[in-house]
Amino acid sequence: MTAPKRLIVALDTVDPVQAQSWAQAVGAHAGLLKLGLEFFAANGPTGYRQVTGAPIFLDLKLHDIPNTVAGAVRAVLPLQPRMLTIHAAGGAAMIQAARQAAETAGTVRPIILAVTVLTSLDAAALAAIGVQASPVEQVLRLGRLAVEAGADGLVCSPQEVAMLRQALGAQVKLVVPGIRPAGADTGDQARVMTPHEAVAAGADWIVVGRPITQAADPGAAAAAIAASIR
Ligand code: C5P
Repeated sequence: MTAPKRLIVALDTVDPVQAQSWAQAVGAHAGLLKLGLEFFAANGPTGYRQVTGAPIFLDLKLHDIPNTVAGAVRAVLPLQPRMLTIHAAGGAAMIQAARQAAETAGTVRPIILAVTVLTSLDAAALAAIGVQASPVEQVLRLGRLAVEAGADGLVCSPQEVAMLRQALGAQVKLVVPGIRPAGADTGDQARVMTPHEAVAAGADWIVVGRPITQAADPGAAAAAIAASIR
């Protein structure tokens, strides 16, 4: 059996030509390529279809009433994304609606991942929106809620992955950004892990953006990271 491709490369750009250039360079080393809200807002389904080379993780972090989220999920199913994100804070009914909409995919349905607490929110920011729990407590609460409501997994930070793996078990998919190769510039990511550390802590997939896309040779950078977790 070939080793699972645990590397997801984040193609963070609004330029579809740039995105496709990166996709060509890294696609062979990546399990998935991640297109985000910025790319999709700028380029829509037409731009999305230009990015080929590996299955797509469409990271839109949907958060609305259940009916609207279900409609958005159904609307992107023809693009055949392999993963989709929603906000766990949208609540159980919204998560169930997203899962049910995903089930209507003709063939392989997308994996539904829930985002718990944005890593941009600290304890003070949570308190300001009325959440008295600590960030860790809130991640665990929303993570459990999301999985019980039908999410296949969670996006989580390196600091949370071991805790969530222990709390939620082996079946839950954990996707972890905030990854830097050993010795790399950490950029604006305050708390990071190496690819190997994240997989050892329980990540099913790691998400890496700039250390690959801003490298002199993105293909070689992706190959090196993929090799480090094989
Ligand atoms: O360039 P870098 O490796 O930091 O990119 C990480 C990717 O993961 C970006 O697309 C970013 O939006 C996403 N992400 C993150 N931290 C989170 C959630 C998502 O960096 N907490």
